[in-house]
Amino acid sequence: MKALSSVAILFMVLFLAQCTSDKSGGQQLTPDEEKAYLEKGKAIAESTFAALSGKLATAMEEGGVEGAVQYCNLAAMPLVDSLSKANNATIRRTSQKPRNPLDAPSEWEAEILAGFQQSTAKGEKAMPRLKILDNNKVAFAAPIILQPLCMKCHGTVGTDIAEADYAIIKKLYPKDEAVGYKPGELRGMWSIVFEQ
Ligand code: HEC
Repeated sequence: MKALSSVAILFMVLFLAQCTSDKSGGQQLTPDEEKAYLEKGKAIAESTFAALSGKLATAMEEGGVEGAVQYCNLAAMPLVDSLSKANNATIRRTSQKPRNPLDAPSEWEAEILAGFQQSTAKGEKAMPRLKILDNNKVAFAAPIILQPLCMKCHGTVGTDIAEADYAIIKKLYPKDEAVGYKPGELRGMWSIVFEQ
């Protein structure tokens, strides 16, 4: 009888341990779910990036940095609104050196950014990935790499960025850290959280 109850207690302990580990982010995605989330994340990041770069290029041609400065802002893009609603997701960009302080990374974002930074610094391609957050939501992260088009606002002040243009940026973003980059470097990442 005594032996039997010890076994029962052991089972209960194991069962409870299993439950706690599930709650603390032990959730696993099936390979099919994983593929679907990755594809959705990539599609959102690619269409947003395409719309953003297109707008930036046209605005730069028409009005230079002064006229284009508002077009590197996701919040100002109606496309982001409709993509968020259609996918029931929160779409944002984050960076280790943010221009807008609101884009500073959270703890999990900083961890993934550091991994992307390591791969890019070694000359490897940083790959999009998923993360299950502590609240069991699924997050998608993908690297944002700088192109020559970006240098006029994120390159070196005085050479890539005209002093007068930087004065305009600094006025809007007094805490700007997002300069001194070269094309091909990691600028930040997409952070897309699916609300499920
Ligand atoms: C005309 C100037 C301009 C150009 C060109 C430009 N950016 Fe930006 N970038 C900005 C401004 C201004 C912000 C801050 C936007 C905000 O308030 O959300 C920003 C913010 C960002 C952010 C969000 C993180 C942060 O620092 O706040 C990323 C990522 C980014 N830019 C990447 C790029 C990439 C990649 C390119 C080239 C395709 C590019 N930018 C070209 C002006 C520019």
